[in-house]
Amino acid sequence: MRPRSITVAAFVLLGCRDPRPAPSPPAPVDAAVAAPAWSEAWLLEEGRRYLDDPAHRRRSLESSLTRHDNSYARQRLDHYALNTTGWDLLPPWNPIAVPVTDAPAAPLDGVAPLWDGQRPGTLRGWVELGRAVFFRYPLREEVFLDHALRRPDFARSVGIVRAPDGSYPGAVRFRDIDGATKVGLTCALCHTDLRDGALVVGRARRSFDYGRMRLTYHADTGAPVDPELARRMRAWGPGRADVTEDRDEDPVAIPDLWGLREQQYLTQAGTIRHIGPAALAIRQETQLLHSNHERVRPPRELAWALAMYLYSLRAPERPAGDAALVAQGGRLFDEQCRECHSNAAGGGPLVAASRVGTDPALATGHGRGTGRYRPAALIAVAEAGPYLHDGSLATLEDLFGAARFSPGYRGVNGAGAVPGHPWGTDWRSDDRAALLAWLRSR
Ligand code: HEC
Ligand code: HEC
Repeated sequence: MRPRSITVAAFVLLGCRDPRPAPSPPAPVDAAVAAPAWSEAWLLEEGRRYLDDPAHRRRSLESSLTRHDNSYARQRLDHYALNTTGWDLLPPWNPIAVPVTDAPAAPLDGVAPLWDGQRPGTLRGWVELGRAVFFRYPLREEVFLDHALRRPDFARSVGIVRAPDGSYPGAVRFRDIDGATKVGLTCALCHTDLRDGALVVGRARRSFDYGRMRLTYHADTGAPVDPELARRMRAWGPGRADVTEDRDEDPVAIPDLWGLREQQYLTQAGTIRHIGPAALAIRQETQLLHSNHERVRPPRELAWALAMYLYSLRAPERPAGDAALVAQGGRLFDEQCRECHSNAAGGGPLVAASRVGTDPALATGHGRGTGRYRPAALIAVAEAGPYLHDGSLATLEDLFGAARFSPGYRGVNGAGAVPGHPWGTDWRSDDRAALLAWLRSR
């Protein structure tokens, strides 16, 4: 079992010991994500503000952090958009990077950098540039991925898939800032998947076993690994990774990237208030520079392009299902679930972790914690298992069945009850069938 009480205790202790006064968190504006117009003209204008006005970036950062006292927020408040100091002084890096394929690697000499240095003048132009960033901008060198790609059978077994065009989405060969050619990972490694042989961008790569990929590298090469980290990586399993880089035990499921525009909050603990596209662009800008060990930063145009691309992603069509049953399920959902799952993506404002009752480690962790969880989006939810932020339940039947509350239950994490999110678990079986039909049509 996970040492939940230790995590909570560490959080409290850190809160007490930290000598810096915590800036007061912004006033809650759950209902009002200052509803931007989202027209092309507005997005282009907002893009210029983000790119050219450091004061706008700073204001956007401050008002987009749900709390100012977790380490995610502290790190950004201390370094971002300070103009004369901090991350603004990092050199922008526009890399040369090509997809990894099975073809023999050709030299990178003569390959043009990812971005031609021109700001797109249309939304479509930004989205296209964003796609290039999503597939090709290296978060960093990734020796584990390089190693896995040398053994195709092993690579497949940890979810490193080959797309119909022969590339391995999420893997690039690139010229690093030291001039050496390396293998790196990109957004597409975790946020694309194959479905019936076709590439679906935005769908979580639920077969990707990052922990096993890394452990295998250590086992094969003898490179040392901290035993505590190794133990944790073994526990992640496919589709989950601990991206908080703190000592809390809180691996999270990779989410689908559908309906981001509708969400009032980003990430499953709602670390970021989605006050508008600048919030997402800042998330991506800081993710990229942080992943690359704060040595360089992406040109901001690329972070903005990435945000525009993420907003453009759409889930594949879903089956309509039995109309009468779906309608009945929809009525039940409106009565009993809509209170929380209230926005157009099926997500909604944050709910106290104590009320949700699922594993509180992520919500209370000092990395990204807010004390709350975001109601999960319900777009293409039938295919979004395993469910909950930690991916602890394999199917919707498991989530809405009462069996998981008993200590003898065996879920994704092995034996033991999976508490929390009790809604729908005590319904009559015909109501539950209607609910499931409705959910499957989302
Ligand atoms: C190693 C796997 C991995 C890689 C690589 C990765 N992500 Fe993620 N991503 C995750 C996980 C896990 C989460 C969930 C984090 C959380 O909820 O706290 C996430 C969350 C997100 C979210 C928030 C979604 C939401 O519903 O709020 C966005 C947006 C996102 N990622 C975009 C990106 C982009 C863009 C890149 C490339 C720059 C990227 N990710 C690279 C694993 C990954
Ligand atoms: C009190 C608020 C609240 C109510 C009521 C509620 N939910 Fe949720 N729901 C949440 C939160 C918060 C999460 C995320 C919990 C987590 O990840 O730990 C969630 C997660 C889910 C998920 C998991 C999706 C995924 O991809 O992991 C589904 C499905 C879901 N809810 C459906 C429903 C349905 C159907 C109902 C009504 C029977 C309902 N919820 C009622 C707040 C609520």
